[in-house]
Amino acid sequence: METLLLRLRVLCFQSTTIIQRNNQRNRHRRRRRHDDDEPPFFILFLQVGTVLLLVCLATFHVYQYYTTSNSNGVVSTNDTYGDDDDYDYDAVNAAKQQDDKKELKLNQLLHPIKQEQQSQSQNNNDIDEETIIIKAPVRKTAPPLPNFELSKSAEWDVYSTYDRCSPLLANENNNNSNSNNNKPFWQAVRELQKNFTETYGGENAARMLLDRGMTTFRSSSSNSNSFTNTSTSTPPIDIIVTACRLRQAKLEKRPFRLAFGGYSVTTGHGNRHSDSYPFQLKEFLEPIIKLAGIVSLKVNNAAIGGVPSFPYGWCMKEFWGGETKTTAINDAQSIPDVVSWDFGMNEPGGPEGLEAYVRHLLSTYNSNIGPPPKLIVKDYFAADHRKDVLAKYSSLLRDPIVLHTDVAAKPFLAREEEFRPLGFQKWREWGAPKGSPGQAPHHPAVQEHKLNGYILAMHFVTALEYMIYMEERENEKRKSEDTNWCQQHSSTTTSESLSSGDVSSLTPFFSLPPPESKRIANDTKLHYDGILFGNPIMDQSININNIKNVTSTQNGTFVSWIMNPVRCRTTFEPKVSGDLSEIIVSGSIGEDLDVLLPKSQYYYNKGWTFDLSEAEKTAKKKLSTYPDGLGFRDSKEAYYGIYESSTMTLLLPYEMTEIDLEVEQNSSLLPKAGDSASEFYGSVVICQVNEKSLNSFDPDSCNFDTDVGVRIGGINVTQNNTKMFDTIGSVYLGKPICKHITIPSEALLTSHNTLLNEGDDPSLGVVGQSDHIKLLEEDQTGLLVEVFVSNPHIVHINQACSISHVVWEEKATKFIEYRKIQSTTKK
Ligand SMILES: *[C@@H]1O[C@H](CO)[C@@H](O)[C@H](O)[C@H]1NC(C)=O
Ligand SMILES: *[C@@H]1O[C@H](CO)[C@@H](O)[C@H](O)[C@H]1NC(C)=O
Ligand SMILES: *[C@@H]1O[C@H](CO)[C@@H](O)[C@H](O)[C@H]1NC(C)=O
Ligand SMILES: *[C@@H]1O[C@H](CO)[C@@H](O)[C@H](O)[C@H]1NC(C)=O
Ligand SMILES: *[C@@H]1O[C@H](CO)[C@@H](O)[C@H](O)[C@H]1NC(C)=O
Ligand SMILES: *[C@@H]1O[C@H](CO)[C@@H](O)[C@H](O)[C@H]1NC(C)=O
Ligand SMILES: *[C@@H]1O[C@H](CO)[C@@H](O)[C@H](O)[C@H]1NC(C)=O
Ligand SMILES: *[C@@H]1O[C@H](CO)[C@@H](O)[C@H](O)[C@H]1NC(C)=O
Ligand SMILES: *[C@@H]1O[C@H](CO)[C@@H](O)[C@H](O)[C@H]1NC(C)=O
Ligand SMILES: *[C@@H]1O[C@H](CO)[C@@H](O)[C@H](O)[C@H]1NC(C)=O
Repeated sequence: METLLLRLRVLCFQSTTIIQRNNQRNRHRRRRRHDDDEPPFFILFLQVGTVLLLVCLATFHVYQYYTTSNSNGVVSTNDTYGDDDDYDYDAVNAAKQQDDKKELKLNQLLHPIKQEQQSQSQNNNDIDEETIIIKAPVRKTAPPLPNFELSKSAEWDVYSTYDRCSPLLANENNNNSNSNNNKPFWQAVRELQKNFTETYGGENAARMLLDRGMTTFRSSSSNSNSFTNTSTSTPPIDIIVTACRLRQAKLEKRPFRLAFGGYSVTTGHGNRHSDSYPFQLKEFLEPIIKLAGIVSLKVNNAAIGGVPSFPYGWCMKEFWGGETKTTAINDAQSIPDVVSWDFGMNEPGGPEGLEAYVRHLLSTYNSNIGPPPKLIVKDYFAADHRKDVLAKYSSLLRDPIVLHTDVAAKPFLAREEEFRPLGFQKWREWGAPKGSPGQAPHHPAVQEHKLNGYILAMHFVTALEYMIYMEERENEKRKSEDTNWCQQHSSTTTSESLSSGDVSSLTPFFSLPPPESKRIANDTKLHYDGILFGNPIMDQSININNIKNVTSTQNGTFVSWIMNPVRCRTTFEPKVSGDLSEIIVSGSIGEDLDVLLPKSQYYYNKGWTFDLSEAEKTAKKKLSTYPDGLGFRDSKEAYYGIYESSTMTLLLPYEMTEIDLEVEQNSSLLPKAGDSASEFYGSVVICQVNEKSLNSFDPDSCNFDTDVGVRIGGINVTQNNTKMFDTIGSVYLGKPICKHITIPSEALLTSHNTLLNEGDDPSLGVVGQSDHIKLLEEDQTGLLVEVFVSNPHIVHINQACSISHVVWEEKATKFIEYRKIQSTTKK
């Protein structure tokens, strides 16, 4: 800090001389103009003082900017939220370079941006601002924005859709149409368009942002349209499908639900939580969605600062909700209509993290419940491999979109601050008071969140325009041929893309095409872990002719990839269900205490302690000095343990609800205490909380790989059965955080009540704890998992090991055999 001040002083001194010279020049100029009113000395003194202050402040900014962004991995501030997410500077710089190259190509194709503008502004808006202050007397006129060329997809953006579909244009002089019912809707759309246009520098510039800021996957729209022949051509498939999702919510008279997954850049660290783009989207979209007849818009920003895409991606139901209307206790637990992936910052280039996420999305919200939610991917423009993955899955996902504003915003940010459209001014101004946690260079500020929110809102408004247009046509035609425009559509899509239903009828699992990341990234070393990508099955008993494109065959044998259902329990917030404490049988402590309180060694000696890391506590305390903690809800509690904490015992329940109906007829398909565990469980994953402290290679602190021991189903798990995940997306700052454990063949199942009866069996590690729990009326069968710190040198709370997620795969081997027998006996 001292050296910093010193350098600042030197910098200020140097600039002082420059400014003095500048000022002298200015004074000369002024004196020539106003010869007779020489200002008194103290005014000059004040003027010089103010300028000096400004220059010092600016220099400080610039200095800070460079020390933080150019230090390649070493973030010099101690701002806890500032470096909470595993920002990989090297990797991201590489991605940005790629970005620049691509942008050059784009510029050659599209309208060229003036070279001078480009060179003027290599990211240093602060410097631009400063030069303006010094040269202020000379006012320049704004150079005009170039005329951007729009691609074909602009034919169905919010503007052109309005022109096609709005009756306000066509029927301006025709008052007898009943479309007047929707007049407020169309007026609001027009007003939102007007606002958008004004914010971003005119209609052409605004449409360019929509065009370049988003990628959709529309190739399949060119198929034979069973659609009615309208005066307009058929819109792209993503618009139709999204419109039908909205219509579904309208018909069911329920809110349209969006759930956002990601980390600090999504949750909005550095700003207020309500400044983040999910809530900006809500602000723009909600009034219009209501005018379109949908009850309300529910936005759940479920992002958590500093988490990789896995284990997050195994816990979609827990963070976003996943219950059907009939089973959801409250609205937050219902299945969302739209979800998101925003992990691009730490997964430069590699598509496998996104592919695994997509596969889990498809299997978590599988076709038994309804179509999978719409997926929004927020990414860099240059991340081609991930776009390829989405293109590959677009028929299954139906209407995924990629939001990438980096290249789209560049021509505007390249201009001097005062010549930018309103929406690009104050680009780095935070929504939270100065000095709030998270104000780091890699976090977007308010205007960037707003741009993202606006572009997403415009996408949904386009779909709403189409929905209202089709409804108006329905009314006009008095329920003639196109009343079922959505059914028509969804039926064709489902039968084409979800042909895996054929397989689903044989197994309760979701069947998927083989993964593509190896081919797309040309990475032969990549390993497809079963719990991330599923497992291939070959089965001669399945008739290949019934199976459509999503699968492949080898030697006439059907090959498909099966995703086992994955269950998750976590300590992280914000979740709507699945608290880790639900499955803890014994050995934990501190759940009832205020998590911000310091926990002494006393607790750690008694058991695995529910706690927050020091870094998290510091950040939370800092946040709590602001009203409502700036609105943030994300939090990374965990169970922390040392050698003395002894064993924490968990019972992982078997939750295969999908086969309940079948099972009622044959109870031998359900697991019982004493059955072999590997018949019913695929594998278990245990993750530690991902913390910055992991990066300080303290030789004495916990090494999750070697210092944490696990017994599964009463059997010691050897090194042979465990492996740390190192796939992209499941590592934190290059360090694996999750332990993947295969079930030892000798492991046996147990049940809640059996455990209680054997409560004093020392081998089960539940000594003397059994009086805390009760016998269940309906016994719960499950897999016993015991976790303990095996290294006797881990004794201090600062060295503690941690557990934040327990994830497991269920199998139904017996069930599949049963089905096979049934299907053959039928023949
Ligand atoms: C800031 O971090 C450095 C090392 O990264 C550490 O030495 C220093 O004590 C920290 N300062 C504060 C105030 O936490
Ligand atoms: C339609 O109604 C508006 C007022 O709502 C009126 O100003 C306009 O003259 C009407 N147009 C026709 C053709 O009747
Ligand atoms: C457009 O902007 C004005 C002024 O900021 C605001 O009052 C109005 O609600 C906005 N309209 C829409 C549809 O967002
Ligand atoms: C659609 O309309 C065009 C003229 O607008 C006509 O040429 C074409 O045959 C029609 N197609 C169908 C399938 O009705
Ligand atoms: C894939 O990588 C290998 C080397 O790892 C290289 O020889 C080959 O040309 C690459 N193929 C493509 C399509 O990039
Ligand atoms: C489906 O398979 C057929 C032939 O097997 C092929 O022509 C067609 O392109 C495939 N469709 C997709 C969407 O992969
Ligand atoms: C396909 O059949 C050939 C010869 O019958 C055999 O060598 C090969 O291993 C088989 N491939 C698979 C995947 O079963
Ligand atoms: C489990 O392994 C540890 C050493 O890794 C050993 O000390 C312990 O006795 C083993 N327990 C059982 C039940 O095999
Ligand atoms: C672990 O694997 C190694 C080699 O694969 C084998 O020699 C050893 O016996 C295995 N240990 C156990 C406990 O299974
Ligand atoms: C129940 O399933 C088992 C195992 O598949 C099978 O052996 C048994 O015959 C089945 N019983 C009935 C009543 O279907």
